[in-house]
Amino acid sequence: MSTLLTNLENGIFTITINRPDKLNALNAAVFVDLNNALDEVYSNDAIKSAIITGAGPKAFVAGADISEFNQLSKADAMMLSKAGQDTFFKIENSPKPIIACVNGFALGGGCELAMSCHFRIASENAKFGQPEVNLGIIPGYGGTQRLVQLIGKGRALELLMSAGMIDGTTALSYGLVNYVVATDQLLIKAIEILSIINSKAPIAVAKCIDAANAVFDESKDGYETEIKGFADSFDTEDRVEGTTAFLEKRKATFRGK
Ligand code: COA
Repeated sequence: MSTLLTNLENGIFTITINRPDKLNALNAAVFVDLNNALDEVYSNDAIKSAIITGAGPKAFVAGADISEFNQLSKADAMMLSKAGQDTFFKIENSPKPIIACVNGFALGGGCELAMSCHFRIASENAKFGQPEVNLGIIPGYGGTQRLVQLIGKGRALELLMSAGMIDGTTALSYGLVNYVVATDQLLIKAIEILSIINSKAPIAVAKCIDAANAVFDESKDGYETEIKGFADSFDTEDRVEGTTAFLEKRKATFRGK
């Protein structure tokens, strides 16, 4: 994958967008590679969870690659938006946790990418924003929807309409990120959290994601999704192991079955 670096260690698959000279801007090649990497997350049993981050000291992702926007027609823009949304739905609907380690600018498509992840950790130099109105356009990869979901309509519309940027501390106070940590602690913090999640029952973890996503999916009844997930989780070997281990006062060993 020419635009990504990947690394699998202890069940955690780290995907690093690797175009630091262009602040990791998302061009067509990155989308192809990202889709392939996500297919790997879905299909490789050795992968329990994933991290998405950006290469270099300056940026997570500074947006969609603006150099590819100049010649786009309205019909092209519609296809680009749909394809970008589909990729980010693949992240959001992944049955395995995918978290964003935001190590600098997360602007436009970068902020949208981070928001499609299950949660976000920011470094001290992180900056978030949706500056599309500076270019005479709006976000196209789900940004108008997920920003409202995550920080509320008033704060989201201020950011969307002003093209303003917020730092990690403000993002933390808005609930856009879960933690702000020193830059050199970013991956360490993510690995610490994912190691805990990876020790839990994988099917139950997947059903937590599914039920939480249903809150924002008008085609689904969230409470019905929860009932089904709850019932399905009872139909697993891991439920037998989890409840038995508790009663036997020992640590459960889950197998994802
Ligand atoms: N698309 C394409 N190239 C981008 C880019 C993007 N979204 N963001 C940065 N780059 C490129 C720059 O063109 C520059 O390339 P060059 O060295 O070949 O000229 C390189 O990355 C470094 O960026 P630069 O602007 O010189 O860094 P800076 O520190 O002065 O500014 C930003 C950083 C993030 C404020 C600025 O790059 C920026 O505003 N980027 C666009 C953000 C944006 O509008 N994103 C939404 C797109 S829909």
